[in-house]
Order: sequence, then C-alpha cells, then structure tokens
Amino acid sequence: MSSMHLLLACIFFTSVLCIRQPILSVTSKADPIYTPHWSSLDARPLPSWYDEAKVGIFVHWGVYSVPAYACQDGLAEWYWWFKQQNYLGCQTAWHNTTYGPDFSYTDFAPMFKAQLFSADRWAKLFKKSGAKYVVFTTKHHEGWCNFPSAEAWNWNSVTNGPRKDLTRLIVNAVRKQGLRMGLYHSLFEWFHPLYLKDKANNFTTQVYVDEILQPQLHQIANDYAPDLIWADGDWEANDTYWKSKEFLAWLYNEAPNKKEVIVNDRWGANVESKHGGYWTGDDRWDPNSIQKHKWEDCFTVDAGSWGYNRNATFSNYLSIHTMIDLVVGGVAKNGNSLINVGPTADGLILPIFEERLTQLGEWLGVNGEAIYGTRPWVEPKDVDVTPGKNITVWYTTKKDALYATVMGWPYDNIVKLSLPVPTQFPEVQLLGYNGTLGFNYNEQGLNIRMPSVPSQLASQWAWSIKLIGFKHKSM
Ligand SMILES: *[C@@H]1O[C@H](CO)[C@@H](O)[C@H](O)[C@H]1NC(C)=O
Ligand SMILES: *[C@@H]1O[C@H](CO)[C@@H](O)[C@H](O)[C@H]1NC(C)=O
Ligand SMILES: *[C@@H]1O[C@H](CO)[C@@H](O)[C@H](O)[C@H]1NC(C)=O
Ligand SMILES: *[C@@H]1O[C@H](CO)[C@@H](O)[C@H](O)[C@H]1NC(C)=O
Ligand SMILES: *[C@@H]1O[C@H](CO)[C@@H](O)[C@H](O)[C@H]1NC(C)=O
Ligand SMILES: *[C@@H]1O[C@H](CO)[C@@H](O)[C@H](O)[C@H]1NC(C)=O
Repeated sequence: MSSMHLLLACIFFTSVLCIRQPILSVTSKADPIYTPHWSSLDARPLPSWYDEAKVGIFVHWGVYSVPAYACQDGLAEWYWWFKQQNYLGCQTAWHNTTYGPDFSYTDFAPMFKAQLFSADRWAKLFKKSGAKYVVFTTKHHEGWCNFPSAEAWNWNSVTNGPRKDLTRLIVNAVRKQGLRMGLYHSLFEWFHPLYLKDKANNFTTQVYVDEILQPQLHQIANDYAPDLIWADGDWEANDTYWKSKEFLAWLYNEAPNKKEVIVNDRWGANVESKHGGYWTGDDRWDPNSIQKHKWEDCFTVDAGSWGYNRNATFSNYLSIHTMIDLVVGGVAKNGNSLINVGPTADGLILPIFEERLTQLGEWLGVNGEAIYGTRPWVEPKDVDVTPGKNITVWYTTKKDALYATVMGWPYDNIVKLSLPVPTQFPEVQLLGYNGTLGFNYNEQGLNIRMPSVPSQLASQWAWSIKLIGFKHKSM
C-alpha cells in the first residue's frame, strides 16, 4: 500500500485501523533473504504465474536474421559460428557466392534495419496466440545486444543496425497487451576476446564475467524488470565461473521485480536439471512422463531453426496439430511450452508463423479451460486403441474436473478411455459444445459419444472433454 493509499484509508476508516497498520507490517513475516548457495536459492517457491500461464512465445532476432540462412541442419542463428569453423561446406560455399569470401559476419549488422518493425503488431499477435508470456533474445551467442549495452558499444541495436532499443519497444508493447515479459541472455559469446582468454585460462580468470556478462545481466534486470530471465550458452563453464549463484541471490533479494521473477536452469554446465528455477533439459525437450519439478519445452515452429531461415520449406514448419499435441502433452506432464518464431531482419513475423499462432489462439480460445491453471493427473496419457483409431488422449485436471484432450476424431464418434472410472453423479461435457455427452462404462473402459457433426463444432484439430465425477481406475 502506498502512503497515498494509506492516507485515503485513514480518511475513510476509523483511526483504530490507521494505528494498527504499522503494527501489522512490523509483525508480518519478513521477506526471506537468499544466499548465493543452491540450497538457499532452490528453496525459493516458483512464483505462481508461471505454472498458470502454460504457453509462451520465444523470439530469436539478431544479426543472424540478415543472412537468415541455413542448409542441412537448420540453426540459422548459428551462422557466424558455422562460417568461422567452416562447419558446413554448403553454408560456406553459399556465403562465398552470395556475399563473397571477404564479407565478414559483422558486415551484416548495418543491414539489420527493422524498417517494417512494429512492436505493437507483434505483441497483438502474441496475445492472439493465447500465450501468456514472451521471451525475447536480448543477446544470443553472437554477442549482439538488442539493448543499449555499453559493453557492446558498436555491436548493439542502438548504435548500429536498427538504431533502436528493440528490447524496450518489445517489453512495453508486450506489457500493454497484459502479457508477462521474459528476457533471454546468452552467458557466453562465441568470439568475445575476453571470454576466449578466460577459456584459454581454463576459466580460472573471470574477466569476461566481471566486465561484460554481469554488468549486462544487472542492466537488463534493472532496466526492464523482467518477469523471467532465460539463461543460455552456459555449457562450457560451471556456475562458479559465471557467478550465477551470486547473480540469482541479488535477483531474488534486490532486483526491481524480485517477487515475481522466474529463471530457468541454464546457469552452468553443472546446473542444468539440478538447480535454478524451472528445468529446460535439451532444446525441444520431452521428458515422456510427469515431472515433479516444473519444466519447459522450448520448440520451434520452423522445426529446424530458431532464427529465421529463408531456405526453409513449407514442410519444415510444424502443423498446428503437432503444435497442439506438444502443448497439451507438455501440460499433462507438468511442463510449459515456449514456442519460437524467427522474425525477418526488416521486422516481420511472416504469415506462416502468424497463421500457426492464430490457429493456436483459436484452439485455446475454446479449449483453454483444459490448459491454463491446470495440474497433471495421475497419468498424462491414454490411447484409444480401438482397431482403426490409435488416438492419443492427454489428461489435465483443475478443481473437480478431469480433462481428456483427444488428438483425433473417432470415425464412429465414440471415444474410448481406459483410465477414468465414474463415481457419484458423473457428467461428461465437450468444451465449446452446449449440452452433455452420453457415455457408458464397463470393464473395457469408458465410451463417450461425441456429437455426430464435428464440422459444426467450435474447435478443430483436437477436442477437450470435461469429466466431472470421475477418478483414476487405481484409486
Ligand atoms: C570460401 O572462401 C574462403 C576464402 O576464400 C575459402 O577459404 C573457402 O575454401 C571457401 N569455401 C568454399 C566452400 O567455397
Ligand atoms: C588447462 O587445462 C589443460 C588440461 O587440463 C592443461 O593442459 C592446460 O595447461 C591448462 N591451461 C592453463 C592455462 O592452465
Ligand atoms: C568450477 O570451475 C572452476 C574454474 O572456473 C574450478 O576451479 C572449480 O573447481 C569448478 N567447480 C566445480 C564444482 O566443478
Ligand atoms: C535449401 O534447402 C534445401 C533443403 O534442405 C537444400 O536441398 C538446398 O540445397 C538449400 N538451398 C541452398 C541454396 O542452400
Ligand atoms: C499410433 O500413433 C502413434 C503416434 O501418433 C504412433 O507413433 C504409433 O506408431 C501408432 N501406432 C499404430 C499401431 O499405428
Ligand atoms: C451455447 O450457449 C451459449 C449460451 O446459451 C450461446 O451463446 C451459444 O451461442 C451456444 N453455442 C452453440 C454452438 O450453440
């Protein structure tokens, strides 16, 4: 409560209340103080917004968006590293022919112009997708900063390229849409001379960490008060080298958004899936079972690449059905989904991405009740194995309801579930459909009769059935 609010409260309420106010704050439990040890940092509860949100949008945008090219394995954002190592012959050959062998990666920076960029247009699309948070690359492994970093004085989006604080524009636009804002930051830089020197010293010196990384991490945490910091590029050294524990203790104790801020687990080679906030495993991680610890599957709409790849074909892009399967399957296993789009150097999120995000938003608009704020059930998955069906079903729960999201439409309009058993007053509904569904139960399972005209239903691609008054067969 601000002092102005307190003053107004004193005008409206009795003086007894106003006298009690300071006493209350004195006796209220003090904020915990975190120390730079994992035992302390890991004891911090994950702020609740993250588990409720379930879906986020990841944005990879940088100098690599200029060549926007990958052959074979994708990963257009690794362009500089591939080129430097001559890792992919097809890529070097293409670079030589297209730009010439003397054209260096840093020459791309002035070509990153973002002429058609509108942060509001992006943020409205993110909102429309049904995502509740956005994570933006402030700095990828190339070291280019999308914010005014004094440590990257000629290698940032304010002094070079677009000549704008892209992070500020995106943070403001995303928050205007009521979404949470996360910032991705690569701990290492492939070619930073100070980093390479520390590395040559077997990470017994920390000049890069003290002079570059830590000032940048503190700057983004202070200037943009992010709800999430998504660390990456940590795998060559341990948490001691990066000073990760010290940074997180500061973030949790003192940063502007200390109460709400969340982090992932990429804070050192020895840290992943062990310490930090939520776990990320590998990119495109599917742990295949319910995880006790909150986790996130980051995956790309262009299956091969995080940065925009001009040479991707239509078949490289995930179908909306696959995206929904990943989202619901992740939620059923206690995961969130962070879905990546790669904008172009001129600042566009191309219509293929726009279509996928819009479709996801349409689907969540009908079926979001089975996603947002849910918890995993006893088991994540069922399969209707009736001959000719083989339909995957994902389970989620909220309050008294069990949700079964079926990933395909049964040819005979009957969905057979093997795990839920009716108890008292069972009722079956279909999200987006008025009226209840008929069902019968026998030892073989629960048969649910779906409406017979699927084309008239509110949603496509997958359908969430709401079961009230059911338990798991083992209970
Ligand atoms: C590209 O040009 C460089 C510099 O001339 C040369 O070393 C390299 O072999 C060329 N690579 C290909 C695949 O053409
Ligand atoms: C780094 O470690 C390697 C292998 O343990 C060793 O050969 C090398 O001398 C070390 N370098 C420095 C600068 O300590
Ligand atoms: C972490 O790396 C440092 C070198 O930066 C090394 O001295 C230390 O032993 C490592 N710690 C662990 C736990 O591996
Ligand atoms: C573009 O991608 C296709 C499919 O991966 C590949 O066959 C082709 O060689 C690539 N084109 C160029 C110019 O690299
Ligand atoms: C059933 O579907 C799953 C995934 O959709 C697939 O991996 C599996 O091979 C299918 N099984 C049969 C028997 O068709
Ligand atoms: C379902 O019922 C609501 C409220 O009565 C109504 O607004 C909506 O149009 C109905 N939807 C369908 C598909 O009939």
